[in-house]
Amino acid sequence: MRKPVIVGNWKMNKTVSEASQLLEEIKNLDLDSEVEAGVCTPAIDLLVAKEKLEDTGVNFGAQNMYFEESGAFTGEISPTMLTDIGAKYVILGHSERREYFKEDDELINKKVISALDHGLTPILCCGESLEEREADKQEDKVKSQIEADLKDVSSEDIEKVIIAYEPIWAIGTGKTASSDDADKMCGFIRSIIEDKYGTDLSEKVRIQYGGSVKPNNVVELMGKENIDGALVGGASLKASDFESLVNFNK
Ligand code: PGA
Repeated sequence: MRKPVIVGNWKMNKTVSEASQLLEEIKNLDLDSEVEAGVCTPAIDLLVAKEKLEDTGVNFGAQNMYFEESGAFTGEISPTMLTDIGAKYVILGHSERREYFKEDDELINKKVISALDHGLTPILCCGESLEEREADKQEDKVKSQIEADLKDVSSEDIEKVIIAYEPIWAIGTGKTASSDDADKMCGFIRSIIEDKYGTDLSEKVRIQYGGSVKPNNVVELMGKENIDGALVGGASLKASDFESLVNFNK
């Protein structure tokens, strides 16, 4: 019922020339059309993504944005800039933005609301640190993030949000959460949505797992009941790996 969604998060990788080459390779892949696929590139690569991915069925998006439409916000990009070039997604609240750029839930919530108001699909990231996991506080942490980040998101809009559960200790470390742990946390996130929006809507929201997803573990992760997709960093930077990830069903 929920369409699987596999999205690459390129992070701060790929100059325009490198992006152009990788996107050319992605353009020529034979990807499963039953799976929604996308890449979130650095802002400077977005126009190249638009050109290269036209008519391929692969979507593109940004890794961040500011919530205002325009104005004196040096260094930022706006939702209207993204919609103008046909971007579909915007990753919001990634743990790297929270940690290195001090983004808090209040700011992330404003960005989520603004993305939805502009017809963008927010990929809202949440997840606990290793310290929190070791103290068995992962549910408390994720619950507080989700509740704060989705504050004032309407019932009409909630099904447009993609949530990515990304335990910080699994990002870029080669350590994946076990598929059972990942499934349990994604199920827990669904129960938070259910409490607020009811069962029908909670069944429609897609929840991704992210953190060292690779071609060799994607099948097991995607086989889990509550995992509807993956947000993939490192392994999305190679076209052949991206192909294996999107084609996990084949
Ligand atoms: P990773 O990154 O796949 O390289 O662990 C995932 C992410 O941060 O979205």
